Amino acid sequence: MAIALIQGASRGIGLEYARILSSRGVQVIGTCRDPTRADNLKSLPNTQVFKCDVTKEDDIVNLSQIVEKHFNKLDLVVNSSAILHPSGRGETRLKDVDFNGLMSTLATNSAGPLVVAKHLSPLLQKGNGLIGSDKFKGNNKKCHAGILVNMTAKVGSISDNGLGGWYSYRMSKAALNMATKNLSIELGRGKNRIICLALHPGTTDTDLSRPYHKNVPADKLFSANFAVSKLLEIIDGATIDDTGRYIAWDGTDIPF
Ligand SMILES: NC(=O)c1ccc[n+]([C@@H]2O[C@H](COP(=O)([O-])OP(=O)(O)OC[C@H]3O[C@@H](n4cnc5c(N)ncnc54)[C@H](OP(=O)(O)O)[C@@H]3O)[C@@H](O)[C@H]2O)c1
Repeated sequence: MAIALIQGASRGIGLEYARILSSRGVQVIGTCRDPTRADNLKSLPNTQVFKCDVTKEDDIVNLSQIVEKHFNKLDLVVNSSAILHPSGRGETRLKDVDFNGLMSTLATNSAGPLVVAKHLSPLLQKGNGLIGSDKFKGNNKKCHAGILVNMTAKVGSISDNGLGGWYSYRMSKAALNMATKNLSIELGRGKNRIICLALHPGTTDTDLSRPYHKNVPADKLFSANFAVSKLLEIIDGATIDDTGRYIAWDGTDIPF
């Protein structure tokens, strides 16, 4: 049976990954900061919920031990958690930047997902390639074990940045993209290769983007169901040749 761990599954895009994957019969492990406030997640079929604050390495270590004991492998890990900024709004100008807001955003959006990868990659290496393309199944040089998805954003692209602003969030996603690229190199070597992807969902109707919805044309604001369905098409078709890519919801590559 395929096993997927969705990190940051209490709301928004993470919850939608859990909903769609559990409805497919995948065993879902959903993590969140406070399981007592995650009734939507807990009500899903084939879903177990565990606590994990991504800024606390002890939580991540504890999670990895629970997953090893009860499941002993992972086929997919999605790092979905993120904050725009502790204030809920991106900085418009340099004078809005403050040390604590910047560090908190980097801890949640960049350091947290990398430390999750550190502790969960041994379990992804035990994956059976049950999620992703089976095109290279049986090909020892090309088959994959598990898939690691880091949810990123197009505003993390340095070359695409024509507007400025959102210092903390842009920096955090650019750093996450670098982490994903590094991971794709280290975890793509040898046997039991892990496909590492940085995926951008498009502007999606969730709490994170809510302060900006009035500026987004209705046809450019995706439902979580639409965005995650498109991202799962990418994940379902992924092979080791895709590892390290930074991909938008429609399958196009975003320049780093
Ligand atoms: N929505 C968009 O338009 C959009 C666009 C581009 C990229 N993205 C990316 O897509 C991903 C999902 O975003 P979303 O729109 O679903 O956001 P969201 O609705 O605001 O959900 C954010 C999730 O992150 C969790 N979280 C925050 N801090 C955490 C921490 N320290 N430890 C563990 N979990 C934590 C939240 O949990 P709590 O319930 O505990 O707060 C919540 O489940 C993010 O990586 C985001 O950057 C979103």
